[in-house]
Amino acid sequence: MEHDTKKAVLVENRRSFLKKTALMAAAAAFPALPSCIPINTIKANVPLKSTEIKTAAVLWYSQTGNTQKCGKVLAKTFEKNGITVVYGDLRDVDKSTIFNVDLMVIGSPVFYYDTPNFVKDFIRSLPDLDGIPVAAYVTFGGPEGNQHNAACSILKGMVQKNGVPVGLESFMSISTYSLSFKENDTGIKTIQNTILPDHETYKKIREYAGFIKSQVEKGNASEYKQTLTLREFSTYFKPEWWTKLTVNNHYIIEQKCLGCGVCVEKCPTNSIDLDSFSVNTETCVLCFGCINNCRYQAVNMEYQNKKLIGFQTYLDKNNLKFELPHELKT
Ligand SMILES: Cc1cc2nc3c(=O)[nH]c(=O)nc-3n(C[C@H](O)[C@H](O)[C@H](O)COP(=O)(O)O)c2cc1C
Ligand code: SF4
Ligand code: SF4
Repeated sequence: MEHDTKKAVLVENRRSFLKKTALMAAAAAFPALPSCIPINTIKANVPLKSTEIKTAAVLWYSQTGNTQKCGKVLAKTFEKNGITVVYGDLRDVDKSTIFNVDLMVIGSPVFYYDTPNFVKDFIRSLPDLDGIPVAAYVTFGGPEGNQHNAACSILKGMVQKNGVPVGLESFMSISTYSLSFKENDTGIKTIQNTILPDHETYKKIREYAGFIKSQVEKGNASEYKQTLTLREFSTYFKPEWWTKLTVNNHYIIEQKCLGCGVCVEKCPTNSIDLDSFSVNTETCVLCFGCINNCRYQAVNMEYQNKKLIGFQTYLDKNNLKFELPHELKT
């Protein structure tokens, strides 16, 4: 019975995939998809509750640390300005500690040109924000990763909860998109050989904290527009499903696995079973959280028959180190 249901889901997924492929091909064939048609204006639905910030929540989802570093710098900058800040990964936060804050900032990496569903679900689960100022940020691997629209979708969620938008930013980071890291590849693949975030990124983040604070103090709500780009359009066709067709042999290598549980902790869809060393590739959303965080090369994944190594192994192999902001050096 369960098998039949799974089979039906699979057939349905294939059917919808084929339909979307046809539509996508038609879209790609369309010579000039407009790149700046506004599809959504994000603006306040309610008045700003207060122009004073005594407490703030800075929350993030981070798979490999980029968004976390940026969030910590934001939080520490607010603290330096006398604000009491609750900050951390939104998977760990005790929601009762973020009720009644005077400001809420949410950060996320861009995945497949969008905000991961996991983050959208978290925002939907928030209580009414009752006119408090809200701001968003994303980190992205770019160079053009639809980062503006992805940040807009975070803000849109918070505005639907009656938050008042006061800021939106994106910070370019090293890309953690695992299809770039293949076992036998040599050489470093970073944008202009720079490991981001770096000191310039951290400077921009501190400025962003100052901008958010001054917006609130002046009582300024902001307006942002999501625009129709080809990449935005492609999010309607679930690019992760397309990518899934190119990835295979996704499982845990029993002989290499130390059972540390990090991959299970990182998996947003509970798709990893360490007892059978298997991955449920139907529920997997191809976020690469497992392979990107396993330090023992125990997650097997192949792309076009080439074995992938994951982000941490890529950093280790190339001896790449992040520049830490002074706030995080203590
Ligand atoms: C599954 C996956 C999909 C990604 N998709 C995009 C994308 O569409 N656009 C982009 O600019 N970067 C993309 N990236 C790169 C990440 O957004 C970027 O490296 C981010 O800083 C990672 O943040 P984290 O270290 O906090 O997880 C992707 C990375 C992964 C793992
Ligand atoms: S992260 Fe790697 S070593 Fe740890 S449980 Fe997962 S596969 Fe095993
Ligand atoms: S099994 Fe899939 S969804 Fe889970 S962490 Fe790995 S890539 Fe992400």
